[in-house]
Amino acid sequence: MCGIIAVTGSGAKVEILTTGLKRLEYRGYDSAGIITVDAAHGFTRYRVANGKTSLHELEQELEAASSNEILAGIGHTRWATHGGPTLFNAHPHLDCTEKIAIVHNGIVENFRELKEQLGHNGHLFSSETDTEVIAHLIEEQRPFCSSLLEAVQKASRLMRGAMSFVVMSLDDPTTLVGFKRMAPMMVASKGDTWFIASDIPAILDRADRFFQVEDENFVVVDPLGAKAFDENGSERDLVELHANWTLDAAERSGYDDFMSKEIFEQAASLRDTVVGRLDASQNLVLDEHLADTDLLARINKVFIVACGTSYHAGMVAKYAIEHWTKMPVELDISSEFRYRDPVVDERTLVVAVSQSGETLDTLAALHEAKNLGAQTLAVCNVVGSSMARLADSVLYTRAGPEVSVASTKTHTAQIGALMVLALHLARIKGQLYPQEVIDLYLELCELPNKIEEVLQVWDSVAALASRLSDKQRFYFIGRHVGYPVALEGALKLKEISYLPAEGYPAGELKHGPIAMLDEQAVVIVVATRTRLYEKIMSNVEEVRARKPFLVILGNQQDEGCITGSEEFIAVPRVHPLFAPIIDVIPLQMFAYHMAKSLGYDPDRPRNLAKTVTVE
Ligand code: AGP
Repeated sequence: MCGIIAVTGSGAKVEILTTGLKRLEYRGYDSAGIITVDAAHGFTRYRVANGKTSLHELEQELEAASSNEILAGIGHTRWATHGGPTLFNAHPHLDCTEKIAIVHNGIVENFRELKEQLGHNGHLFSSETDTEVIAHLIEEQRPFCSSLLEAVQKASRLMRGAMSFVVMSLDDPTTLVGFKRMAPMMVASKGDTWFIASDIPAILDRADRFFQVEDENFVVVDPLGAKAFDENGSERDLVELHANWTLDAAERSGYDDFMSKEIFEQAASLRDTVVGRLDASQNLVLDEHLADTDLLARINKVFIVACGTSYHAGMVAKYAIEHWTKMPVELDISSEFRYRDPVVDERTLVVAVSQSGETLDTLAALHEAKNLGAQTLAVCNVVGSSMARLADSVLYTRAGPEVSVASTKTHTAQIGALMVLALHLARIKGQLYPQEVIDLYLELCELPNKIEEVLQVWDSVAALASRLSDKQRFYFIGRHVGYPVALEGALKLKEISYLPAEGYPAGELKHGPIAMLDEQAVVIVVATRTRLYEKIMSNVEEVRARKPFLVILGNQQDEGCITGSEEFIAVPRVHPLFAPIIDVIPLQMFAYHMAKSLGYDPDRPRNLAKTVTVE
């Protein structure tokens, strides 16, 4: 949630903040604001709270000032948690003296008691946010501290919850102080211009060096450089990150929106993710950390934790890992995992799947897994993200930046990465012959070509969406690996079209949901060739008898299975366990075209933020 950018040094300009915030739009857009400091005026604050147009309006308002040089500045785009999306709740917030300014991402869980105490001490608040409490806490500490850093350190000890924030003070106007606790934050530089940001895309074209910040660490950034300190005040190394993302990858590049661009990038992102991932001995080539094959050979259970679309990728992986390795795989929604008593020990491999690598629920689940002694692996897309740093091993999806709130290319890349993991585990567990692993892996590497074929259904799916644009209820059904595809199809439609949509295992319909089917309903069946093909076609008959509008997503040779006005979406046939990578793409397109035909902007779904860093 919430995007942060801060700049100091000789290149600091207003425009760096507004452009950076535009690139962080996917983090939220309830309101936006910046505060700058210059020698003549001290602080100047601009805030806009007009929902989806906030960032655009902020940019317009500041156009004349965009090239103005500043000593330093901080900016924020907000996804509201504490306090409505109003102007007075928009960041940056100030303390009573208006000498301390702050932008914040995350939640101060004990903010009510802190606010009450601060109120007793005479502090006056001008917003309903938890963020403003931090400014006043720092204000209270500052007279007793030798530096802003020390005041921030003392304030941070009083607060509970996951958060990152950046503070600026008029006492030392070129210095930025940042704090990171289980929420994203990084430092970057070019020459003597220094940045703090929540995400790389904000500063991709501004900086040439990027550094990761550890949890519970503080950073002090000024034109002379950046230093990191741990909670005890000891100086820590800032580890340099090597992100090969380009600005082009983070821009729309001629597409109407990021979602359509990212749908069309899926062949490349899958190729980049899977090719070169198995070495000559069929061992998985991991990123950054060394895979300890001996340790992995001893595992007897896999546990996958994830949220949303990443959870659906994990669900596909469960079928593949169990099939190829004969090991039990448990799958859990991250926010459930940590609050029950998962049976996990040192022979369990816990796999956290996450595009951002920052989703708080999954990050917390990963912490819990480590506490329980499990071996851990992160499958994530953002290099140097919190999960990548916490897990024992990392397998990156090399999908490039995903800007659209609704995940598409990272989902298919996640499934690809998890398939390679499944094959690797099958090899070291001795459940597949080496040649079988090689054959399956080569087939996986061929999938990008099949994706190119699926992308051809774009126009026919658009026509289908316009035909169905007056329908009100959608049911997606599938069996076996078609079930997670159905769940993902429904999630995509809900996220960007706001239409009631449900995903069901087709065999479960008759146990209740079939009661919902009538002529107003639309049923979309994922019916590509798995070994349950005949069974799902029986489920199709049950559905057909209730006369909903029926759409069948099937393999090219099965087109004859529809009757009357029913619709068929044809996709190429691939190995059944790889089919979700192919089958989900027309459903992503369907959600996209439904959103467009209903007049919604797919890149700015209401109420959602790309990365959910609150519980
Ligand atoms: C997907 O379209 C959604 N934006 C959402 O469900 C997302 O997958 C979920 O929040 C998990 O995010 P992560 O992959 O970054 O952990």
